[in-house]
Amino acid sequence: MFNRLQQKWKVNGLQVALILCTFAIGGSLTGYVGRKLMNLFDIGPEWLWIVVYILLVTLLWPLAVLLVSIPFGQFRFFVSYLKKMGKRMGIISREEPGAGSQGPVKQIAIFASGAGSNAQKIIDHFRENERVKIALIVCNKPEAGVLKIAENEGIPALLIEKEQFFRGNAYVPALKEKNINLIVLAGFLWKIPVALIQAYPGKIVNIHPALLPKYGGKGMYGQFVHAAVIAAGEKESGITIHYVDEHYDHGDIIFQAICPVFSGDTPELLAKRIHELEHKHFPVVVEELLLRGV
Ligand code: GRF
Repeated sequence: MFNRLQQKWKVNGLQVALILCTFAIGGSLTGYVGRKLMNLFDIGPEWLWIVVYILLVTLLWPLAVLLVSIPFGQFRFFVSYLKKMGKRMGIISREEPGAGSQGPVKQIAIFASGAGSNAQKIIDHFRENERVKIALIVCNKPEAGVLKIAENEGIPALLIEKEQFFRGNAYVPALKEKNINLIVLAGFLWKIPVALIQAYPGKIVNIHPALLPKYGGKGMYGQFVHAAVIAAGEKESGITIHYVDEHYDHGDIIFQAICPVFSGDTPELLAKRIHELEHKHFPVVVEELLLRGV
């Protein structure tokens, strides 16, 4: 049941526990305050008392759960939960898909083959956003941490196979079937075949842990990048988010952010600083791209 709730609400295990606590405490608080308020009035026949009590707790309950959700850190979840309930009950009007400036829901596929910390940040960033969905995690390593993230988050994962992938368009139907609008490479090491780039022109972005055009290209990934930056005596490094073209780490640059390289830095220390930059900026840049209509 816990797993089903994770998938339904698109949250992690800890959040399910916090949400359930909020429901329980919010419910008890509603009953308690409801009875106290009812005691203030002398309502005649029993049936009327019951009707008024039901109406009162119906009004109190949303306020109580919103209040309790604040210390549990689940306020955003409950705001969107109550909105959904309101829409279902016809209290809040439903937006037609495609109406106004909102447009249809954007579907993102994240390609990753590592720990997936960037994937997790992107998932967290869009968790309460009803206009954006992380629809698929694509991965080429069965043991990659990102697959565990996909499982925890209830996001479908596609484990791809090398020969088929480099055949070019083998996985395009799977992406099209999910109506993917944007492909985000977050620690994906295989070169993207031309057929896939052509199927998603200007809709594939990558993050690279250095300031391109320096320290990019084949073999420049992970600690190799940071080791090269340190060995060259650079005083600064950073991150680059760029469109993907036929060459490694080469497409047009969308965004860069800089961090210092200190004397005595190791690749591990620099990697940590770079990861912080990535986590801070990558989800926001992805959102800006979607807003621009990518
Ligand atoms: C990031 O440093 C990214 O720049 C690079 O691969 C790393 C992925 O890290 N392309 P994680 O798997 O998201 O933690």
